[in-house]
Amino acid sequence: MTSLLDDIAWPVHTARLTLRPVSVDDVEPTWAYRRLESVGHWLTRAPQTLLEYRTQFEAPEMLAKSLVIELDGEVVGDLMVAVADAWAQAEIADRARGVQAELGWVIDPGRAGHGYATEAVRELLRICFEDLGLLRVTAACFSANEASWRLMERVGMRRELHSVRDSLHRSGEWLDGLGYALLADDWRSRPGT
Ligand SMILES: CC(C)(COP(=O)(O)OP(=O)(O)OC[C@H]1O[C@@H](n2cnc3c(N)ncnc32)[C@H](O)[C@@H]1OP(=O)(O)O)[C@@H](O)C(=O)NCCC(=O)NCCS
Repeated sequence: MTSLLDDIAWPVHTARLTLRPVSVDDVEPTWAYRRLESVGHWLTRAPQTLLEYRTQFEAPEMLAKSLVIELDGEVVGDLMVAVADAWAQAEIADRARGVQAELGWVIDPGRAGHGYATEAVRELLRICFEDLGLLRVTAACFSANEASWRLMERVGMRRELHSVRDSLHRSGEWLDGLGYALLADDWRSRPGT
């Protein structure tokens, strides 16, 4: 499966980290932290076994939108960048194709609290706007996932949506959701540029 991400010159380096597309060899290093209850608690899927995880991980549509974050050659987290069409009226829908992306992130809890997710997501925003030429980037989380929405705010994303009890957690509880976004125009006019 081809991906827009194929056009980027990987790996991409930041001050401390390396970002690159996932490969099938990343199943076990990512499972090491994704299997933890504190991580799976917030995620769309919480597979119970390595086999189940591997099946989901190796699906072509998952591989095509997933990156890993490395620190000194070790996988410490992963990112999702799911490029999608924007909504448009039918007559000009072709102009809205592939212009936005939804982002996602996970950091090994053993590596949390050092700004690695912030550093990786800032770089991912740069890739989205400067390399992929996207117009808009979004991210969503349960409102109770404070670490995630604080990350969105640290990287300058705008809270656009607070939806009330629209999101069903696997605990059976209906939870509030938050939606954040950043526009290419915001990126170009961010402080310090
Ligand atoms: C969401 C998640 C990635 C955030 O991780 P995180 O460790 O809080 O984020 P960072 O790696 O950017 O670290 C930020 C923390 O390090 C601190 N920090 C230290 N050095 C830093 C630096 N150089 N730059 C930025 N922050 C730094 C910050 O102050 C912040 O700490 P605080 O929350 O106590 O204020 C993580 O909680 C996670 O993986 N959760 C489980 C999966 C999940 O929920 N994913 C999202 C689903 S919507």
